Amino acid sequence: MTDADAGTGSKARPERRSQAWFGAEGRAGMIYRSWMRNQGLGHEVFDGRPVIGIAVSASELAPCNAHLDRVAEAVKRGVWQAGGLPLAFPTMATGETLMRPTAMLFRNLMAMEVEELIRANPLDGVVLLSGCDKTTPAMLMGAASVDLPAVMVTGGPMLNGKYRGRDVGSGTAVWQFEEDLKTGRMTQEECFYAEGCMARSNGHCMTMGTASTMACMAESLGMQLPGSATWPAVDARRFETAQAAGKRVVEMVDEDLRPSKVMTRAAFENAIRTNAAIGGSTNAIIHLAAIAGRLGVDLSLDDFDGLAREVPTLVNLQPSGKYLMEDFCYAGGLPAVHRELAGAGLLHTKQITVTGQSIAENTATAERIGDEVITPLSTPFQEAGTGTAVLRGNLAPNGAVLKQSAATPELLQHRGRALVFDSPEAYHKVCDDPTLDVTADDILVIRGAGPKGYPGMPEVSNVPLPTKLLKAGVTDMIRICDGRMSGTGYGTVVLHVAPESAVGGPLALVRTGDEIELDVAGRRLSLLISDEELAERRARWTPPEPKHRSGYAWLYTEHVTQANEGADLTFLRGSRGHAVPRDSH
Ligand code: FES
Ligand code: MG
Repeated sequence: MTDADAGTGSKARPERRSQAWFGAEGRAGMIYRSWMRNQGLGHEVFDGRPVIGIAVSASELAPCNAHLDRVAEAVKRGVWQAGGLPLAFPTMATGETLMRPTAMLFRNLMAMEVEELIRANPLDGVVLLSGCDKTTPAMLMGAASVDLPAVMVTGGPMLNGKYRGRDVGSGTAVWQFEEDLKTGRMTQEECFYAEGCMARSNGHCMTMGTASTMACMAESLGMQLPGSATWPAVDARRFETAQAAGKRVVEMVDEDLRPSKVMTRAAFENAIRTNAAIGGSTNAIIHLAAIAGRLGVDLSLDDFDGLAREVPTLVNLQPSGKYLMEDFCYAGGLPAVHRELAGAGLLHTKQITVTGQSIAENTATAERIGDEVITPLSTPFQEAGTGTAVLRGNLAPNGAVLKQSAATPELLQHRGRALVFDSPEAYHKVCDDPTLDVTADDILVIRGAGPKGYPGMPEVSNVPLPTKLLKAGVTDMIRICDGRMSGTGYGTVVLHVAPESAVGGPLALVRTGDEIELDVAGRRLSLLISDEELAERRARWTPPEPKHRSGYAWLYTEHVTQANEGADLTFLRGSRGHAVPRDSH
């Protein structure tokens, strides 16, 4: 435990944390118990049994998490079954689709809330219920900083979207529908109808977008039960797994099996390799870096490139491939992938997980069903080395990333003229203009979308191609941005450029007409101007006016780290432990 606060817990720490509340004598104990009894709880439940918090990020404003109240009921069954006392509590939910300016602005706020709620309450362990993109890393970050026994249960993907006899993937299909609408292949009415077809059950995006990726990351880090990432949200086995998680966390309290023992450096390496094998979202890089920062695990961008390079992509899912999460589940799910990787020596097989067993033990009997959705290692969907590449150069001294599997191979080695926009909006204003001076060989540079500059580092980097080029049949061109890309997005897009333009990164100094060279094989991103010219431009650069002078957005912009460090707030890094705070009565 680090930074133990000055509470009563540091000295005579009771056997169970919750007993500092419910086992207390006199007036304070009476207050702690009595008010809880208004929920119909009998006196006997305060007998020292493990008290398990269930952190529920259900919200009608975060549709991907809307069903988590029902998942919580299943968790409660398991906790009671194992002799614990379950107490569910709501957390904020960062819904990806509605929140402005971007849900990412609030990931750290949610992490902070989760952390403080766990620590401030009489809890011995916690089950984390998440779903939509940022809710999973936020909960893992918060739980890591408290370091009490914790199991995650993600809410599961939606059923496959079905439109006119074909599968449509959430997110990914939106980009396609938009292009079809712009080019006249679809009418507005057809689009309205397709909206409903794409999201036809509870759950999060069923492509291998960020939510599915982070669910798989939570399982690969050892924080969810095996199979938990892939059961569809409405599958009965999702609820069965949730019940098992409730049961298991009670045992974990006795075993003192905490996040810091589960999420070790080896677990992060397992997660990074698994991300390559599943063709996961680039956002995993930022989220894993932020979670690692909470645990003091040293993880650099180069680890992501180096570890992923050895791993072929086995899972053929949109946006890089063809299938969706429901298919992945029926093909054996993530346990089948882990077993393949373990068999090839690509996993740290001894790493302990929340089951109390190793990742290899968990998946020893997992089965890969068919060769289509989860391909065999011998004939993988994509060869090793085609995963996410980390680029550096005078345009991205602290790194940038590119998802090769979502890119056009011919563009991975390219030199082109920069067309620079100070914000995504500036580009959107002109992108439909038929007279826009742009060719498919140009490189669109979109800046002002970093953690501090936007603020919050939104998923705007894969801006749509200029309509003029789309109409001419162009399907891709290089885009470079200091923002992120949705895990459901695709294209040859250089993301997460660090340092971002708002703090004076070289991206701020590019001008329309400059030449840029992208060399993915050589992992280089270069602005082809002299060092002297670059220095001159830097000397003349003035930082943009701060967008916020008070409120949370101000706090965020004052303290947010760059993309390569996980875009966490500096003062939230590390663990603050779970010492029992001082009494309020
Ligand atoms: Fe919530 Fe995609 S919008 S997971
Ligand atoms: Mg997203």
